[in-house]
Amino acid sequence: MEDLAARIEELWEHAGELTPADAEASAIVTEAVDLLDRGVLRVAETGADGTTVVHDWLKKAILLLFCLREVRTTEVGPFEFADKLPLKKDFARAGVRVAPGASARWGSYLAPGVVLMPSYVNIGARVGEQTMVDTWATVGSCAQIGARVHLSGGVGIGGVLEPPNAVPVIVEDDVLVGSRCMVTQGARVGRGAVLGEGTILNPSIPVVDADTGEELGRGVVPPWSVAISAARRREYPGGEFFLPCVLVIRRLEEGERHDKARLNALLRAHGVSA
Ligand SMILES: CC(C)(COP(=O)(O)OP(=O)(O)OC[C@H]1O[C@@H](n2cnc3c(N)ncnc32)[C@H](O)[C@@H]1OP(=O)(O)O)[C@@H](O)C(=O)NCCC(=O)NCCS
Repeated sequence: MEDLAARIEELWEHAGELTPADAEASAIVTEAVDLLDRGVLRVAETGADGTTVVHDWLKKAILLLFCLREVRTTEVGPFEFADKLPLKKDFARAGVRVAPGASARWGSYLAPGVVLMPSYVNIGARVGEQTMVDTWATVGSCAQIGARVHLSGGVGIGGVLEPPNAVPVIVEDDVLVGSRCMVTQGARVGRGAVLGEGTILNPSIPVVDADTGEELGRGVVPPWSVAISAARRREYPGGEFFLPCVLVIRRLEEGERHDKARLNALLRAHGVSA
């Protein structure tokens, strides 16, 4: 693998010169992206100490892919598409259920038991076992979504491709992300957390403890917590405004499922979208 990483780094040095005619470069990059597609490698992973390591050479491979591929037109019935990347295939063999209208790009990984309602999963993203990606949810490039997560209808998980060393969005195992939340720019939702509908989370948004008023950090929701969208007062020369923040209103016991998330697990077990 080190050899493959070194070859990608070498190609990255000359990215500006690459064209779709470079068959050798194309084969190297395809090999790397294929490993992402099969889940053998991942763009980012969190160690036991909680720190996230980004394998930026894999992100570089994805970026290089766009220099090495030509736009191709494909047709499905009355639909026409013009894109550089193919879509994922062999869902039944991977143990993944994909409702009509969903698409996942080649180079994303969907673990066994994933359900995709009409939704979108971009290249480099990884979706863990038994996770439900509900209707109109989007999983942006390189986002790392854990196991048994529910991304509710309309959730927007941002893609983080550039710069290559930027940390992607991370949603840890057993999280419920409520409808229409936006989690972007490398934000992180800790294990077992519940994010109320319509929450915006990015690395500039303060996360505040409702019991103490303490700012717990920015862009990171603590594990086993219930967090909702709230507003904080802010003075500007032009007047007083209310900017969004995320308020932690409740703590769950480790391993505890919020009652609203429990219902959700039942629906998922039956393979039905909420
Ligand atoms: C966050 C959530 C889990 C809170 O549920 P809960 O722990 O039962 O808490 P409550 O409903 O008692 O709400 C607590 C307070 O937060 C407020 N609140 C609840 N959800 C909120 C949200 N999404 N945004 C802002 N405020 C919210 C309530 O108005 C209430 O305020 P109050 O104390 O002044 O009455 C729940 O409201 C939620 O958003 N679940 C996600 C639902 C979802 O998207 N499901 C997907 C399929 S439909």
